[in-house]
Amino acid sequence: MSLDTRKKDFEMFQEDIFNKISPLIVSSKINKKLLNNFNNSVIKYLSKSATKSYKLKSEKSIINFYDRNIDKLNFITPNGAVVPKKETSKEFNLITKNFIKIIKSLNIQDKIVRFHIPLNIRIKFSNIPQSFYLRDRATEKPHSDSWAGESSNCVNFHIPIFGDVNNNKMEFFYPKKLNENWLRPLKNFQTGFKYKKYYKKIHFKTLKGNLIISDFATLHRTIRKKNCKTRISLDTTFEIKRTSKLNISKIHNDRKNEYISYKKYEKLGDKNKYFFNDSIYNSINQDKGFKHFANFKIVKNEKYKS
Ligand SMILES: [Fe+2]
Repeated sequence: MSLDTRKKDFEMFQEDIFNKISPLIVSSKINKKLLNNFNNSVIKYLSKSATKSYKLKSEKSIINFYDRNIDKLNFITPNGAVVPKKETSKEFNLITKNFIKIIKSLNIQDKIVRFHIPLNIRIKFSNIPQSFYLRDRATEKPHSDSWAGESSNCVNFHIPIFGDVNNNKMEFFYPKKLNENWLRPLKNFQTGFKYKKYYKKIHFKTLKGNLIISDFATLHRTIRKKNCKTRISLDTTFEIKRTSKLNISKIHNDRKNEYISYKKYEKLGDKNKYFFNDSIYNSINQDKGFKHFANFKIVKNEKYKS
């Protein structure tokens, strides 16, 4: 697949709904009602994860609590993903259901082939230990998620939700040229640094209530400006229809179970539900290779017990 083919495929994000930031990056303002429901489900999820209750009821109380208890919250990965657990399955299903409503409002369903699951709710603290920046797949290093073993046919989907989204944010890089072979699983993100000279930084404001979609041929990273505060955001990925038959999508074996068809995906959180096996009382294993941190199965609603 060439850069031109990718640009052409990206035209599926049409101008009546999306705002073109570059030929491989678009944004869109989320419908107010859908956003409100989605944000409320994120608050419930984060409150339940941290306090086993719904006592944290606002953006401010969530961020204050997480900032104050940063050392005690053992369900968060070094990259900031708030891992869904047995005790928070119900709340995570609700987020998924509300997220799918947002996807449906974008009029792109017939162009989505399959989804990578589960989505990530991330808390990017204002400060993280220096050692976290040095990790092989630290999201603070510029990268394509294909380097982390995901299908190179995918696009990234990002929503800045709460907190200091102006100073603690995602930054994007656009390819001046592209070799598809760059978009393969790499041992670590620093292996990909040699490609960065072919990329240029794209400047734009990431706003709350907006979503951003970027092709896997772009690079992204988290940046923290001086004195920034904590940010909460969503990220996930999905595969779009490609016109070129010559694509070389290389999914890492560890990730094969993490893809489902859009048809199945749209029932998630509703007719079908996630069930997460691990308890919130157990710590996360430090390294699981390429695999997603959450251990889950999908069950029919009737069989579901929260
Ligand atoms: Fe990423």
